Amino acid sequence: MCGIVGYAGTEEACDILIESLKRLEYRGYDSAGIAIWNQGTIRTERKKGKVDELKKAVSDGTFQGSLGLAHTRWATHGTPSERNAHPHRAGDVVVVHNGIIENYLELKKELKKEGHEFLSDTDTEVIPHLIVHHMNKGEAFLDAVSASLKELKGSYALGIIREKERILVAAKKESPLIIGVGNGEYYLASDAPAIIKKTNRFIFLEDNDIAILKDNSLELTNTDGEKIERKIHQVQWSDAMAEKGGYKHFMLKEIFEQPRAISETLLGRAREEEGEIEFEEINLPDVQKINKIWMVACGTSYHACIIGKHIFEANLRIPVETDIASEFRYRDPIISKKDLLIVVSQSGETADTIAAMKEAKRKGAYVLSICNVLGSTLAREADSVIFTHAGPEIGVASTKAFTTQISVIFILMLYLGKRLGVLNSEDIKKHILELKKIPRKMQAILEMAPSVEEAARKYMHRKNFLYLGRGIHFPTVLEGALKLKEISYIHAEAYAAGEMKHGPIALIDEDMPVVFVAPVDQTYKKTCGNMEEVISRRGKIILFTDREDPEMQQRADSCFILPDTIYELQPILNVVPLQLLAYYIANLLGTDVDQPRNLAKSVTVE
Ligand code: F6R
Repeated sequence: MCGIVGYAGTEEACDILIESLKRLEYRGYDSAGIAIWNQGTIRTERKKGKVDELKKAVSDGTFQGSLGLAHTRWATHGTPSERNAHPHRAGDVVVVHNGIIENYLELKKELKKEGHEFLSDTDTEVIPHLIVHHMNKGEAFLDAVSASLKELKGSYALGIIREKERILVAAKKESPLIIGVGNGEYYLASDAPAIIKKTNRFIFLEDNDIAILKDNSLELTNTDGEKIERKIHQVQWSDAMAEKGGYKHFMLKEIFEQPRAISETLLGRAREEEGEIEFEEINLPDVQKINKIWMVACGTSYHACIIGKHIFEANLRIPVETDIASEFRYRDPIISKKDLLIVVSQSGETADTIAAMKEAKRKGAYVLSICNVLGSTLAREADSVIFTHAGPEIGVASTKAFTTQISVIFILMLYLGKRLGVLNSEDIKKHILELKKIPRKMQAILEMAPSVEEAARKYMHRKNFLYLGRGIHFPTVLEGALKLKEISYIHAEAYAAGEMKHGPIALIDEDMPVVFVAPVDQTYKKTCGNMEEVISRRGKIILFTDREDPEMQQRADSCFILPDTIYELQPILNVVPLQLLAYYIANLLGTDVDQPRNLAKSVTVE
């Protein structure tokens, strides 16, 4: 995940910036770079690989100066390499950037016509060129920055410096950026851990804010140049808390990060105006010839596959077979050369999933991986890869990886649907609009966290839980039960609700909480029947639904009304309260939430 740091003060910037970059290393990156301003010149250095490589390259004492920027990059546009590493320069303007510029290709085309030369494959490089383009028209530097920001579509956290002025400009939209206030000095960071050792006084920039750091003064404006005020927050965070953004655990932070993670997943890909999905990374063979889709993974990623089966089959009418990777690899599956195999993995290093990919490739299938970690084995060795862009997931229990996987699967369905001729631009537009509402709806669910915690307190001492759901909600409850068992160590089982009568009903008594995920859809009435069966055996119902139903609400022990959405997207919303329920129960029981016993983040052995 990209990281930005900056410094404007009286100390040597180089050491401070390298130290700050190192404090962001835990988030993962593939290259690093630095820019130091000194008496009207800016020296830059970039290195593929670790910050230590960069440190070596700048340790000859010539990188002197007390104002500068640095960056760690996790590639999105353009391969990990020195030429794609930040900072990027045009004329005397030097930029570091987090986020994705959606309209960079259009901008680049126009700028090229004017004679601008580009040296990288990144979206970022258009930004310094755009600023120079505006300055060439006679605009002052700050006006050129504002004018350029208004032309950018997408997300950005930016640090900008130029040779002719001792000035550091920061700007943000939909990507976090913090100003650290020191004694006569200012720091810039995309994440608090980078600078928490230097100061605990932070200004959290808001969208469309511009911060101007000049001669140890700070000025804040909006993109129209009007002055604005932002509060300085004094935080009492330890190092560990800063890494967790003030949350008690990485898992909780990652649950709350989901609205932003999903927005990042969609950035530059879901274009609602055109009714088009763009994946620059994939290069599928003739989709008309796809005979069958396989979706193979382990654990949480496998649950995303089952949701994928529902999404693909309902819309594309192509048969989809899901399999657990450890099963698939040993059962000699009947795969044809016309099959598309999709492997799904957060880490990209799960041994069984890698083996499944190899088996499918050996049999001639085309393999597409949906993966979160750049440079991982599945990302490198599959025929194509789509990254989920969830950012680093550190908590062992997977949360934001899951919801971003479903988001990718959904837009992949739209992409294939258009190419197969079963969806037109209008259909795609409608679906993208629904999808783009998800982060806001998810935020509304996250605001229900205190009442989920209350429910957790009520049920935390129960020894067993049953989770039930039908259709696309069945994989959601599988995921909910997995979350609870892995972090709270409470036994939890999930079933398709219709299966309850075929065995699990025997378990139900007054000590058994039964979690139902039952939005009001075509199977709701059937699921209500299952709820009646639980109630009549004195089981306790925890209901997650999307519409008021006084009768069921009254009879449920706890009931949560969640925002509604289209059928295919419901798992993305409905899983969030299940993640929260598991988290709060585990936290109340005092387990090691981020590193549950016996579990590893990446299962690299069979
Ligand atoms: C559960 C969990 C695991 C992983 C599984 C696959 O919270 O994290 O079940 O989902 O080990 O891992 P990836 O997705 O990295 O292949």
